[in-house]
Amino acid sequence: MLNNSIHYIQNELYCDDVPVQSIADELGTPVYIYSLKRVLDNLAHIRAAFGELNPHIHYSAKANASLAVLHTIINAGAGIDAVSSGEIYKALRVGTKPEDIVFAGVGKTRDELRYALEQNVGWFNVENVLELQHINDLVAELKRQPTRVALRLNPDIIAPTHKHIATGHKAAKFGLSIETVKNVLANRSQYPNVRIEGIHIHIGSQLHDTEATRQAVMVALDCIKPYSDIRTFNIGGGMAVRYSPDEAIPRWEDFGAAITPLLKDYQVILEPGRSIIADAGMLVISLLYSKVQGGEPIYITDGSMAELIRPALYEAHHEIVPVIQASAGSPQKAYHIVGPVCESADALGHNIQLPEIEPGALLAVLTAGAYSMAMASNYNQRPRPPEVVVAEDGQSWRLARRRETWEDLTATEII
Ligand code: LLP
Repeated sequence: MLNNSIHYIQNELYCDDVPVQSIADELGTPVYIYSLKRVLDNLAHIRAAFGELNPHIHYSAKANASLAVLHTIINAGAGIDAVSSGEIYKALRVGTKPEDIVFAGVGKTRDELRYALEQNVGWFNVENVLELQHINDLVAELKRQPTRVALRLNPDIIAPTHKHIATGHKAAKFGLSIETVKNVLANRSQYPNVRIEGIHIHIGSQLHDTEATRQAVMVALDCIKPYSDIRTFNIGGGMAVRYSPDEAIPRWEDFGAAITPLLKDYQVILEPGRSIIADAGMLVISLLYSKVQGGEPIYITDGSMAELIRPALYEAHHEIVPVIQASAGSPQKAYHIVGPVCESADALGHNIQLPEIEPGALLAVLTAGAYSMAMASNYNQRPRPPEVVVAEDGQSWRLARRRETWEDLTATEII
């Protein structure tokens, strides 16, 4: 979606003050472009929306773990939500203080737990009783002080979102059941090397109402009521962004208002990913060919599911717009926007209203800052695109990751 940073100036698409065409002319396509200004605006907006609670914000690195993005967010005073030792490593590389990292994830290996303990990460969000035992044992083995833990509760709440990104219903693989949380808390003296001081929930991503979150918070509060030393409440991520103009989503202020009365007495942690980076980014692609198949017009572009898998995986919608707008009144048609990958699912959009454009013309896939490059692959042996950041003042751009080469494609292989 267009916004203050991703916008048209006299019929030409800009990222802040930089013409998108000028970046593509220099680097080619596909290319991801991120507005760091928009990232910081989103962070400030979230802080304001939860103002009274003064939450600790731990950016969910899985949404976009590019060093330049992480660095900008860390410098603005946020911490990191990491789900692997790789994400912890990248967070530390950009100067995140270890105590500002929460380590989450449903299947942390013992090696990952050991690494996180050695690095002194601030919180472990625990999702398994054996994992809690591993942490307890490793703390002793490494001769560390007791470490801080939040139990991730599965509150058995159905999140209002796509089934692939809902995580809070009882059959989901995520979290500990209500009964297990209660049992662990009742028997916590069995784990002398951990301090269970927090509760964690995350019921899903791109949440379409605040009520499910409110209910999940209530369930969690009920579990921790008897334990006055549990003072930290991590409500996860999940705040939605608008992918199309008619998508009805709660405002971030609505999330703040829904939970503030319940959590006034707690230190609140948020783990926003998408809400910080999605609408700060775009994927810029070029038209290769057009054709009409079965009566339906198709634009074949150099961007594919390898660079943005969300439409293929979740039937997600992204707005796709021309970088140079056609003159007013030009006829438009509903196009399928597809890529070169050998899969019928390889599309970036369907029924996208666009004017007739010539091969070589640029299109921008919007709201593509989150879960795009982060989920990109080399499928069909496609080198992954470069990433560009437009500086916080909006005036200049720089390469944040170079385009992969054919050498990169073979660098780890042995014949
Ligand atoms: N915290 C936890 C424990 C999570 O599992 C997630 C996302 C987040 C925070 C951040 O959620 P966000 O604020 O970004 O909604 N690939 C999917 C989204 C997967 C989300 C996984 N967990 C997509 O492209 O829609």
